[in-house]
Amino acid sequence: MEYHIHQYELEQGALEIQYIEEFFGEFPRKKTATEIVRRLEGRAHLILLAHAALTDGTVVPVSFKVGHEIKTSETEPKLADLVVRLRDHVQFDGRRILYTWIGGTRRDWRGQGHFRALTEQQELWAIEQGFDEIVVKTKNKFYEMRGTLDHLHFEVVKYERNAADNAESKVYLSKKILPEIVRRHRSAKTVVQVTA
Ligand SMILES: CC(C)(COP(=O)(O)OP(=O)(O)OC[C@H]1O[C@@H](n2cnc3c(N)ncnc32)[C@H](O)[C@@H]1OP(=O)(O)O)[C@@H](O)C(=O)NCCC(=O)NCCS
Repeated sequence: MEYHIHQYELEQGALEIQYIEEFFGEFPRKKTATEIVRRLEGRAHLILLAHAALTDGTVVPVSFKVGHEIKTSETEPKLADLVVRLRDHVQFDGRRILYTWIGGTRRDWRGQGHFRALTEQQELWAIEQGFDEIVVKTKNKFYEMRGTLDHLHFEVVKYERNAADNAESKVYLSKKILPEIVRRHRSAKTVVQVTA
């Protein structure tokens, strides 16, 4: 199978993410395009979507992944808080860290390798851009995501217990960007850069 990946520039990419998030009934807090632009503007970022054809031939976005750089100098409260939580577990000094902010695959297309293909493309981009490590945050209760990150060889770097409900505990994972990770890549893909 060949995966079809589109890499978007900020404004159009934000609209695409807003659109695809509408298909994720399980997440009540969907991101708006404005919120996405506000987060990504002015920082190194990557917006990727995988497309696939419906039975009638219509091509639709089925999977997405958005990452951006985080630094110890963050001032936006959510990101500053993230860095504080991570800094004893991820080495920031002299290294570039890519944070996988949001991502997912529409239910009917899960288990078909779309998210692996996006992850591998993100890793290639991260290497090209000189990143050293990719970090991601999830929760104990997101079993599909935890299983997937395990298959994609992300390692747990921190576990933050939620005293009231362990299912809500936060799990932070990371993957070092080393040249050998590319040798483990498996997805055949075409990548299109979408420019406005
Ligand atoms: C997690 C998610 C993105 C996986 O997407 P996907 O397109 O189905 O993933 P892929 O088919 O590319 O699978 C990638 C790898 O993960 C494995 N995998 C996928 N779903 C899995 C699951 N539910 N349990 C265990 N492993 C799983 C696959 O076997 C594959 O490994 P392999 O290539 O070694 O065989 C998708 O299930 C999803 O969107 N879930 C809801 C999103 C979510 O939970 N978000 C939480 C907020 S962090």
